Amino acid sequence: MSAYSYGMVGLGTMGCNLVLNMSDHGYSVAGYDKDATKTDALNKLGAGKQIMATTDVKAFVQSLEVPRVIMLLVPAGKIVDYVIADLKPFLSDHDIIIDCGNSHFTDTQIRIDTLVKENLHFMGLGVSGGETGARFGPSIMPGGDVEAYNRVAPMLQAIAAKVNGDACTAYMGNGSAGHYVKMVHNGIEYAIMQLISECYHLLKNYAGLSNDELHQVFDTWSKGKLQSFLMEITAAVFTQNDDAGNGLLIDKIADTAHQKGTGAWMSQDAMNIGYPIPAIDAAVSQRILSSMKAERVAAANTYQIENLQTLTGNKTDFINQLEDALHAGYIISYAQGLAMLQLASDTYKYNVNIATVASIWRGGCIIRAAMLEDITEAFTQQPGLKNLMLAASFQKYLSKEVYSLKGILKTAINQAIPTPALSACMHYYDSYFSAWLPANLIQAQRDFFGAHTYERNDKDGVFHTNWNQIIR
Ligand code: 6PG
Repeated sequence: MSAYSYGMVGLGTMGCNLVLNMSDHGYSVAGYDKDATKTDALNKLGAGKQIMATTDVKAFVQSLEVPRVIMLLVPAGKIVDYVIADLKPFLSDHDIIIDCGNSHFTDTQIRIDTLVKENLHFMGLGVSGGETGARFGPSIMPGGDVEAYNRVAPMLQAIAAKVNGDACTAYMGNGSAGHYVKMVHNGIEYAIMQLISECYHLLKNYAGLSNDELHQVFDTWSKGKLQSFLMEITAAVFTQNDDAGNGLLIDKIADTAHQKGTGAWMSQDAMNIGYPIPAIDAAVSQRILSSMKAERVAAANTYQIENLQTLTGNKTDFINQLEDALHAGYIISYAQGLAMLQLASDTYKYNVNIATVASIWRGGCIIRAAMLEDITEAFTQQPGLKNLMLAASFQKYLSKEVYSLKGILKTAINQAIPTPALSACMHYYDSYFSAWLPANLIQAQRDFFGAHTYERNDKDGVFHTNWNQIIR
């Protein structure tokens, strides 16, 4: 066998499926994993194809065409550095390493800067779409070294998902842009999942819908303006029987959400660069709150809320109102994520094109949704668009849907149904469209207790006042 065109390190489900996807498109791939059960599995699946897998790192590296292209699909964090260290003794100048995991963008930047000094190219590349995406076409978010990108672009285009013939991959920008865009993707994913779960709570506990009715509602929504992968899988969840017992599986799953960190990273960086993304923050916080199960159960036993009611009005009207509210939530979540991404691009000099990002999220990824077509269009028409909520094509919906959202929030608050993401969307919208916010009082307080100074409406400059003292 002549040398393999690509190498893949990490042959878990994602790595293995990406190898098979690449092979389907005519690329020969060598795989490496320390775990022999994984290499054996790939060797079986790859029988008759131009695929081989080994547990021997030297044999792996030496089986590749030079300059080499080695993709990594290993857990984020120190493991990426260990893998690079294992590979390095066998690499030569100009070899390319592509980290396809969910690495933190700051780690990616450090790796780029370190490896370039050793004449190696390093790229951070986000992959979204889970196991099926990896196997049959994910959304791929590559960034960094342009020379390296140009070498692998045809392969990435071949294996990516396609929408109307367009490959769901494109160059995202300089440095760690690929991993940054993937982090933003995941933050929006967290927000939308939280929004849907809040709707589930309202439909189940306030409107009293059965699992079958919940399936019907989500299925109908998935075929309308909320058409999206997350809505489709939500509808499917409400048809899944519990293999281990009676009834549907959903009712047996513990109500404690886990997370691997990408949503929290986005919230942390939003705070660092100074952009508000309250829907994503709320989604991260709510996952944490959900995991405090024992504390919640103990607290619930001490707390009796009075006058809780269930829906007595028209069910269809309520469901339609909720559909509007959720649609507004989707738009506002994309708006927050993309506006933060624009600021990050300016801050970190990524040179990200927001229309391009939206267009490659139209297929393959977890947040793919019909509305991404219109989002792409909005940013293509107006490249300097500050916020998606300002686009006429979205104002058309939002100007009406926010009233549904307000109505839903009143109900939720009265019925003690927590809706932090829906409400964060509402407050973000109301704040964004407020010419005046009460921050003058905050400035007064800051200057009062700390001489932090303030600006005035009526003249330029920075001012400090000797405030009237507290009168008791
Ligand atoms: C994707 C997903 C994926 C994500 C996991 C779990 O785009 O395919 O975003 O990359 O990491 O689905 O994320 P959490 O464990 O943080 O929920």
